[in-house]
Amino acid sequence: MAMEAWLMDDSNEDPRLPHRRDPNESVSLDQLAELGVLYWKLNPTIYENDEQLTNIREARGYNYMDMLDLCPEKIENYEEKLKNFYTEHIHQDEEIRYCLEGSGYFDVRDKADRWIRILIKAGDLIILPAGIYHRFTLDPSNYVKLMRLFKGEPIWTAYNRPQEENPARKEYMKVLNGKFGVPLAAH
Ligand code: LAC
Ligand code: NI
Repeated sequence: MAMEAWLMDDSNEDPRLPHRRDPNESVSLDQLAELGVLYWKLNPTIYENDEQLTNIREARGYNYMDMLDLCPEKIENYEEKLKNFYTEHIHQDEEIRYCLEGSGYFDVRDKADRWIRILIKAGDLIILPAGIYHRFTLDPSNYVKLMRLFKGEPIWTAYNRPQEENPARKEYMKVLNGKFGVPLAAH
């Protein structure tokens, strides 16, 4: 099945819980694409020799690659890192993550400034555009292994909200109201 996404509820409970609304309000891949969020489903067992992954990397210029294994034993300042990941922020470049093991949630803001929660599992490759407000948390499984891709020398700097004067934010808002916003055929 394709990646799943939904609008979040307003509760302040543990961020690692699903935070679905009641009834659930799911968000489609087309709705995510309107925000500039892109998604591919790949086969995570062949990531070392995957033609589809190679094609995506070549087409988009993602020459840099590393792995982020989010478990306490393998990460320095584990708690602090997770806290920073879950603080609403933007980057000046795309955030490209390919989930190889485990699962987690990427939350992104929609046009009405509501949180959309995106569940990613092994095989999900997600691209968040530069300038989109977002955050990340583990889910109750408490483990994820992510491939990080980047075009050129990686810059991981996070700019916490508010960033309305940030050039990447301004550019995103411009594109959001233009290109990404092309009306889609009714479903
Ligand atoms: C981040 C982690 C999840 O950059 O890769 O938010
Ligand atoms: Ni980020």
